[in-house]
Amino acid sequence: MEIIRVNASKEYDVVIGKGILTSLGERCVSLFGKSRAVIVTDSNVAPLWLDKTQQSLQLAGVEASVFTFTAGEESKNTATLFELIEFMAQSKLTRSDFAVALGGGVTGDMTGLAASLYLRGIPFVQVPTTLLAAVDSSVGGKTAVNLTAGKNLMGAFYQPELVLCDTDTLSTLPENEFANGMAEVIKYGVIFDKDLFDKVSGGDVKSDIESIIARCVELKRDVVARDEFDKGDRQLLNFGHTMAHSIEKCSDFEIEHGSAVAIGMVIAARASARLGWSDEDCTQAIIDANKNNNLPVECAFAPADLADAALSDKKRTGGTINFVVPEVTGRCVLKKIPVDVLYQIAECVN
Ligand code: NAD
Ligand code: GLY
Repeated sequence: MEIIRVNASKEYDVVIGKGILTSLGERCVSLFGKSRAVIVTDSNVAPLWLDKTQQSLQLAGVEASVFTFTAGEESKNTATLFELIEFMAQSKLTRSDFAVALGGGVTGDMTGLAASLYLRGIPFVQVPTTLLAAVDSSVGGKTAVNLTAGKNLMGAFYQPELVLCDTDTLSTLPENEFANGMAEVIKYGVIFDKDLFDKVSGGDVKSDIESIIARCVELKRDVVARDEFDKGDRQLLNFGHTMAHSIEKCSDFEIEHGSAVAIGMVIAARASARLGWSDEDCTQAIIDANKNNNLPVECAFAPADLADAALSDKKRTGGTINFVVPEVTGRCVLKKIPVDVLYQIAECVN
């Protein structure tokens, strides 16, 4: 088992280990006392992991009600968010009670935002059940839902009190979802850690998944400690994401976030080389790592459509956009670029 302490506006542990879901109740009681909880989960995760979660809370003396929503990114919207907040009110949760996000990034992002809003803030715990949520979205306090205009446009920085990652939950994850999580792992490698990149680029990572998750969480902990509110260094985590958000949008969210990030990283690396920003061309290394981890490397959308979609993204500031490019594998930098350069970058889709 690994425990990583995150030091942001709130301090909390990220606990990673096999079979640790049974310890959820005791850990929550030691944090919140014998309070009440709402477990938030989706329609795929509920039949798989809800019983174990409820049992652990019950055994520790925590009474929990359950809010289940239809699985998928389409549910990550204001309608589900408001239903969840109404449910918290109907369950008569007080500020001494807490929410548990049992699921992937959609569940975690939405539960965190609801927890930040209900009663002006109640505590919440992240129990990530996708690899993507384990290595990225459950840590660091970014919460959000999507608006019609784009992804994650309504949100808050709101840290959890605990992240409990039971690696057993990944055993039921479909292969494509595991691959989506590997896109974020590869991302950490390219941005910060060549050793991590080399370790995962050949694929076949499952036997070592606990230490891989722990390394990603350490990297995220460090960047969040330096820049919790995303004014500088934390934006490096958006490597591959500018084009990824466009790809998700252009595909009507048929292409999942992790797969879109995989393609977005290839575009950003190719652009970095073509525009003379990198010391080496690491495009091929990323393409190989993606392929070995069952991730896509290209998409069929027109460059102009991708660039137009990116321009409605929240990361635009006036006439410039922040764009992350690799200089070498293991080191990325943030570039402030005029928006028209985005059209040149989107040309790097192939
Ligand atoms: P998700 O929550 O939709 O989960 C993916 C799919 O896996 C869903 O169908 C879900 O029901 C299913 N699933 C989850 N756990 C399972 C399990 N153990 N067994 C079987 N099926 C399971 O999506 P995701 O990929 O986890 O997260 C993507 C979301 O996270 C996006 O909305 C993205 O914007 C967000 N995100 C947020 C941050 C952040 O810092 N807050 C970072 C990265 C991504
Ligand atoms: N996933 C990007 C961030 O947490 O900043």
